[in-house]
Amino acid sequence: MLTYEAAKEILEKFGQEHLLKYYDEISDEEKAELLAQIELIDFSVLENLREENCFTAARGKFEPLGAVTIKDIEKNSDKYSESGIDAIKNGKVAAVLLAGGQGTRLGFDKPKGMFNVGVSRELFIFQCLINNLLDVVDKAGAWVPLYIMTSEKNNRDTIDFLEEKNYFGYNKDYVKFFVQDMAPSVDYNGKIYMESRSRISISPNGNGGWFSSLVRAGLLDEIKDNGIEWINVFAVDNVLQRIADPLYVGAVISSGLQSGSKVVSKAGPDERVGVLCLEDGAPSIVEYYEMTEEMRTLIDDKGELAYKYGVILNYLFSVDKLETILNDKLPVHVVEKKIPYMDENGNYIKPEKPNGHKFETLVLDMVHMQDSCLAYEVDRRKEFAPIKNASGVDSVDSARELLKENGIQL
Ligand code: UTP
Repeated sequence: MLTYEAAKEILEKFGQEHLLKYYDEISDEEKAELLAQIELIDFSVLENLREENCFTAARGKFEPLGAVTIKDIEKNSDKYSESGIDAIKNGKVAAVLLAGGQGTRLGFDKPKGMFNVGVSRELFIFQCLINNLLDVVDKAGAWVPLYIMTSEKNNRDTIDFLEEKNYFGYNKDYVKFFVQDMAPSVDYNGKIYMESRSRISISPNGNGGWFSSLVRAGLLDEIKDNGIEWINVFAVDNVLQRIADPLYVGAVISSGLQSGSKVVSKAGPDERVGVLCLEDGAPSIVEYYEMTEEMRTLIDDKGELAYKYGVILNYLFSVDKLETILNDKLPVHVVEKKIPYMDENGNYIKPEKPNGHKFETLVLDMVHMQDSCLAYEVDRRKEFAPIKNASGVDSVDSARELLKENGIQL
């Protein structure tokens, strides 16, 4: 256990001595908690605040990447479906649900999956996802192992909720949870926020750490022992998300490529979505704010947008490759967020506007670690209904409309 002196030394090195400001005023138990928190925090992430370490500075040469289109998929559907179902039946495919985020934009204070999108009946986000996965289970006649990543902040609520709802009909023997790591949150001057006199403000460190957290939770052995070869990683907020989609799995396996990403055709050049492309010859995702005007509007020889395929956070990775990149460092993104904190008068404040930065690694950066990636096009009106906001774009309202359009009773 860290001593007060050792903690002080670490904090001085990173200019964060204020975290011990109330040390003399708190109880022994709180002192121990605070020191334990300091011991666990990786303060080196703060170095990402320095401009020269800023990730966006260092990008390579981008080129467009084509996709297997909805039409191509229709033409080959029998072949893809057969290969995908075969892999699922043989236990080669698992799914990882990324549910460790805080969903600050939605402003719902429970895990996002507990949000009820129903209108005249209850229909929770977790329920939508499990229903979609159950379609595949029915088709393949086999359960798909489902690993759910939570964070320290929402793990208990998530497990209790799914237990209470009896996993919405899923076989709980095939559901496992693991908890992701946390990172400190800072104000605009790079000073770490406190939540109380004895608690440092920490938040989930982004969805990029999912595989290392899964390994740390001891789940890799079971994955390998069970012969799982492919992992479909997906986000909690897309209620039309097809999970372990046999056609997608089959298409990636048939392509011989190392990974896959579901993509949708961009609604227009200015849609704010990351685009799957090539960067220095390897698959990569360029964020909308990183694209130049020329890239955004470039037209290919078919008269279509060259950078056309937006990602929807649904990736298929091979376990073999994931193991080889386990210790490779992902870039750390510094993101602006609303961070609850304790002000100088000791009041707990929940800000209305962003008030600082969090540090996140992102699963999309794992795509660039792959030798190749199949861009697999899906119909956005059938498979993309993300709930990020309460209203407006990518919201509860827009998701409800799309659910109805897909025949789901609300
Ligand atoms: P978002 O980028 O939408 O982040 O996450 P968020 O934290 O959930 O929401 P906002 O930005 O605060 O409104 C995309 C997916 O990645 C998961 C989320 O749960 C969601 O499924 N995620 C995000 C994690 O699992 N861990 C994280 O640390 C962040």
